[in-house]
Amino acid sequence: MITLDLILPDTRYPIHIGRDLLEQVELLLPHLPLPKVAIVCNETVAPLYLARLQQALAQHRIESFSVVLPDGEQHKDWNTLNLIFDALLSRNAERKTTLIALGGGVVGDMTGFAAACYQRGAPFIQIPTTLLAQVDSSVGGKTAINHPQGKNMIGAFYQPKAVIADMSLLDTLPERELSAGLAEVIKYGLLGDAAFLGWLEENMPRLRARDPDALQHAVKRSCEMKADIVGQDEKEQGVRALLNLGHTFGHAIEAGLGYGAWLHGEAIGAGMVLAAAASAELGWLSSSDVERVRGLVAAAGLPVKSPRMPLTRWLELMSHDKKVEAGTIRFVLLQQLGRATIQAGLPSAILEKILDRNS
Ligand code: NAD
Ligand code: GLY
Repeated sequence: MITLDLILPDTRYPIHIGRDLLEQVELLLPHLPLPKVAIVCNETVAPLYLARLQQALAQHRIESFSVVLPDGEQHKDWNTLNLIFDALLSRNAERKTTLIALGGGVVGDMTGFAAACYQRGAPFIQIPTTLLAQVDSSVGGKTAINHPQGKNMIGAFYQPKAVIADMSLLDTLPERELSAGLAEVIKYGLLGDAAFLGWLEENMPRLRARDPDALQHAVKRSCEMKADIVGQDEKEQGVRALLNLGHTFGHAIEAGLGYGAWLHGEAIGAGMVLAAAASAELGWLSSSDVERVRGLVAAAGLPVKSPRMPLTRWLELMSHDKKVEAGTIRFVLLQQLGRATIQAGLPSAILEKILDRNS
């Protein structure tokens, strides 16, 4: 097991990465103020892993109850969030009852938001079960639900007490979901580590074949980069915005098509191709750089072409991006492969051209 630390001005927490960690309750114990936890899960993950976690907790005399949510991005909303509050109240959960998110990014984001709100703040722990959640969403304390007009628009910054990334849970992950997680892994190489990008190009077949060493390296490097960036800028006043590479376009795809039509990681894959194409239009990337990005996204099993939508619809959707400032859409683009930057606004002619060629 590898343990990284995310260090913030007023807290710090461990990110444990390894295999067979789910039943290692000693990783949870230091973070539980009371021997009582609420496990939030969904209808797909619960039959696979919930009983194992509950039995392990019971052996350590930790009382637990579960809340099983419907599965899917389309359920990341108020109604589903309320199911968590209903269960917490009906089971008399207290302010020191710890919420455990056992699931992918959807369960993690909703559990974190529920924990931020319940009695004005209850502790929570992330046990991410998808590659995407292990490399990105479980770390850093962004929690949210979607609004029909905009992705993750209602939420809070609220940090977990610990992250336990058990990589053996990825054995049951469908291939399409593995690819979705690889989108966020590619993102780290593109935004800040050209050597890692090269490693990904060489090792993509091993990653897709779930080679444990390759996967562990990818999760570790991704979490290192995320912990470093969040440690510098917890509330996204600056450098953290770079973690949104591909997301302005990607979130527009998700909201535009209806949540769940494309997976989040698929939308980010196509969004990163658009970001690379826009960067080339500004003269920052060469056409062969753009081909490298397109090739890597395709090698991960992700779409490289975005869905066709009129420019006016793209602009309407992107106007709800959380990076918008004084009405200007701020795009994360690439000055070179391995170095991202923020660009305030893009001429319509560039947007039209890249969307025409890449959708
Ligand atoms: P997800 O949570 O919907 O999980 C994907 C699918 O895999 C679901 O059907 C789920 O039930 C299933 N699943 C989960 N674990 C499994 C396992 N071990 N075996 C078999 N099936 C399993 O999607 P995701 O890709 O994990 O997360 C996407 C969400 O994360 C989006 O809502 C996105 O906005 C959010 N996100 C948040 C952050 C953040 O910083 N908070 C960062 C990136 C993404
Ligand atoms: N996934 C973007 C962030 O955590 O900031």
